[in-house]
Amino acid sequence: MNPNHVGIIMDGNGRWATERGLERFEGHKRGLETLKSTVDLALKHNIPHISFFVFSTENFFRPAKEVNFLMDLLKQAFFSYIDECVSRGIKIKVVGNLSLLEDDIQRLCKTAEEKTKYCNNLKAYFAVAYGGRREIVDAVNKILASQVKSVSEESFRQYLYCPEMPDIDLLIRTGKEKRISNYFLWQIQYSEIFFSEKYWPDFDEDELVNAINFFKTRERRFGRVMDNFANVKN
Ligand code: FPP
Repeated sequence: MNPNHVGIIMDGNGRWATERGLERFEGHKRGLETLKSTVDLALKHNIPHISFFVFSTENFFRPAKEVNFLMDLLKQAFFSYIDECVSRGIKIKVVGNLSLLEDDIQRLCKTAEEKTKYCNNLKAYFAVAYGGRREIVDAVNKILASQVKSVSEESFRQYLYCPEMPDIDLLIRTGKEKRISNYFLWQIQYSEIFFSEKYWPDFDEDELVNAINFFKTRERRFGRVMDNFANVKN
């Protein structure tokens, strides 16, 4: 079975550029093109949900020049890409603590969501100003500020940034490192994880197919044994 939700940690832009004698920014620019082509591939390969780690809460601590460049790239992407998303039925959600972003970027995020809200061919989630621990702490604080006295795992989900986003079935991390880097900690509970040796700008259809084929070989038991596997909710 195809994964319902593929999450991608897009790592290696900087090294891709440095190894070519280019500025790190060139890697991010190329990375944006790879992101767009991967959205196309998700449509082609019938993946209903795809998420991308665009900018973490930790990324704010990079040099200001790089932070500003990434924010400008994000703005450009929203300006130039949204109409295409509308025409191709791609629904956008920007997931993160958006209050950490400048006002104009917050507005662009909202506009992107608003313009694409009736799109139905693919749901694309962009994690921006996102940290997994921060999301959980923000959820706890929302609960503390409410009248709610206790929560279940299911009702807790309502306090996450994007409750309707399903758990991640297949998590892909490019760029040779093998770590989670604070990506959707709640939603990766039983993700299968594919570590790619490719830098993000080099990620392509062959590597996506490798990841999907890896996913298809996995026997997902969700901590159970095969005997009561039929009771497992996916
Ligand atoms: C990690 O590579 C990548 C990022 C921190 C940014 C991800 C951004 C993009 C793929 C493109 C921008 C997309 C939008 C929508 C703005 P790294 O810089 O950590 O690479 P390194 O580990 O080789 O240094």
